Amino acid sequence: MQDIQQIGVIGAGTMGSGIAQICAAAGFSVVMQDLSDRSLERGQAAIAASLARQARKGLISDGDAIQVQGRIATTTHLERLEPCDIVIEAVVEKLEVKTALLQRLDGICRHDAIFASNTSSISLTELAAASAHPGRVIGMHFFNPVPVMQLVEIIRALQTTDIVAEAVTALTRAIGKTPRVSKDSYGFIVNRLLAPQINEAINCVHEGLATAEDIDSMMKLGANHPMGPLALGDLIGLDVVLNIMETLYQGFDDPKYRPSPLLKQMVAAGYLGRKTGKGFADYHPA
Ligand SMILES: NC(=O)c1ccc[n+]([C@@H]2O[C@H](COP(=O)([O-])OP(=O)(O)OC[C@H]3O[C@@H](n4cnc5c(N)ncnc54)[C@H](O)[C@@H]3O)[C@@H](O)[C@H]2O)c1
Repeated sequence: MQDIQQIGVIGAGTMGSGIAQICAAAGFSVVMQDLSDRSLERGQAAIAASLARQARKGLISDGDAIQVQGRIATTTHLERLEPCDIVIEAVVEKLEVKTALLQRLDGICRHDAIFASNTSSISLTELAAASAHPGRVIGMHFFNPVPVMQLVEIIRALQTTDIVAEAVTALTRAIGKTPRVSKDSYGFIVNRLLAPQINEAINCVHEGLATAEDIDSMMKLGANHPMGPLALGDLIGLDVVLNIMETLYQGFDDPKYRPSPLLKQMVAAGYLGRKTGKGFADYHPA
């Protein structure tokens, strides 16, 4: 089993800052890298706010919060990740950006360092193929908000070695999350099940079968879901849902994954859900 002590996190956005926070909270020393000081400061502020919320709830002490933040070093220089045993990337969801990063890291990190990607839709097998050491590439798919959500979907590329998969599974447990392993495939497991359900709920609205509000309450009352599919789509972002449906549709080349016409129109109109104030519900303050 590979010994992991130093963790590098690339990208200090929504996901990267959360990943850095939980790794530091578990006692690991973390180096968080991003392109600009501004992005790093935003990431640090998000971590401070999340820790303050935990302290207010009595889950951690103020002293714990300071210690966690003290374990996270920040940098704009990728070379600072040289001593890391694992690098987890959470940069923009673009294949060319992620492959370029992997190739630069090949020249910076030790040959046995692990590269984990938090991609939600890119093929890990394709990513691994870009590395000079494809066996060290693996998916660690965290869920938002990272400090709260229990699951880490571990995705094995065709090339991922057993030793890397074992080390990442053990690390996931060590940072307080629950690992579940999947082979590489379009949408992996959770998004492959979740996005088509949201898409089908949107088709029901499109066909005028019931209101969005009623469809959501049917799934809460009849299927015991904590949240209706349309409210969940608004929370995730309808552009993200469309992206996942397109990945499934094109990847499997199967009409059962065809994105709903209404979903495409909502995205074209800029009605993306909570983040734009309007989706299947209106989030503008009254
Ligand atoms: N947001 C979610 O709900 C969610 C859930 C699971 C997985 N993901 C995946 O996580 C990844 C990050 O998503 P996010 O929502 O945190 O995005 P985000 O836009 O909040 O953050 C991305 C960060 O990466 C930085 N960045 C971009 N290119 C970089 C580079 N070359 N080097 C270093 N830093 C770079 C940006 O400056 C930004 O701070 C994506 O692959 C996304 O698909 C997102």
